[in-house]
Amino acid sequence: MPKIVHTVMEWRALRSTHQAAGRIIGFVPTMGALHRGHASLIQAARQECDVVLASVFVNPTQFDEATDFDTYPRTLEADLALMEKAGVDTVFAPSVGEMYPNGRHYTVEEDTLSRELCGAHRPGHFTGVLTVVMKLLQIAGADRAYFGEKDWQQLQLIRGMAEAFFLETEIVGWPTVREADGLALSSRNVRLTPDERTLAPRFHAILQSAPDATTATEQLTTLGFRVDYVEDRPGRRLGAVRLGSTRLIDNVAR
Ligand code: PAF
Repeated sequence: MPKIVHTVMEWRALRSTHQAAGRIIGFVPTMGALHRGHASLIQAARQECDVVLASVFVNPTQFDEATDFDTYPRTLEADLALMEKAGVDTVFAPSVGEMYPNGRHYTVEEDTLSRELCGAHRPGHFTGVLTVVMKLLQIAGADRAYFGEKDWQQLQLIRGMAEAFFLETEIVGWPTVREADGLALSSRNVRLTPDERTLAPRFHAILQSAPDATTATEQLTTLGFRVDYVEDRPGRRLGAVRLGSTRLIDNVAR
């Protein structure tokens, strides 16, 4: 089993030993409820680095809906088993108090891209994400950190933050892992009812096949998706939809 540490001090002590030995540290931040998408990030870190650190922290400041935070799947036992199999050495699993020692007064905010796309529908979400990722990157002190491309907007914002604040960790983006029917893996997929699960892959199919964003929105709406947005950006089509109480996001190259 990977070693679990709960405090910044414990990880920093371990990190000093690794750094003194000249080991390359790879970091995979997560909110737990791990699936094969996370496993592929961990395996990438395992291949490219000497030591793999993963964090499990359900960050309260990035949830814009209290019920989403309360019902977010928490599966630590299964997560540890997956992490062991995929090659994690150390798991950082802090408390909220450990991560926010002086409350929520200090934040990292981006003022343009963070307000578009998902940001327009989830007020404060990306400030929560950027703030916790800044904290986690500072704590990890890793050479490389791995993020999934499914959260395309998040990845662009984290890259921008790393550049703006001269962070020394290399930000690595990793391809989305999908079910055989095309549905992007997500911790929230477990909330889909059987009927919603049957319909869900049409989201990816329509993002890929529709000639433009307006047509994609019409086709999805006709099928019963509630569309937050579908937008074409240079090189990418991005979308977010709701099926019942579950929100799905995805993006495809174009
Ligand atoms: O993508 C996620 O799981 C989260 O947004 C992250 C990057 C772990 C920050 O809480």
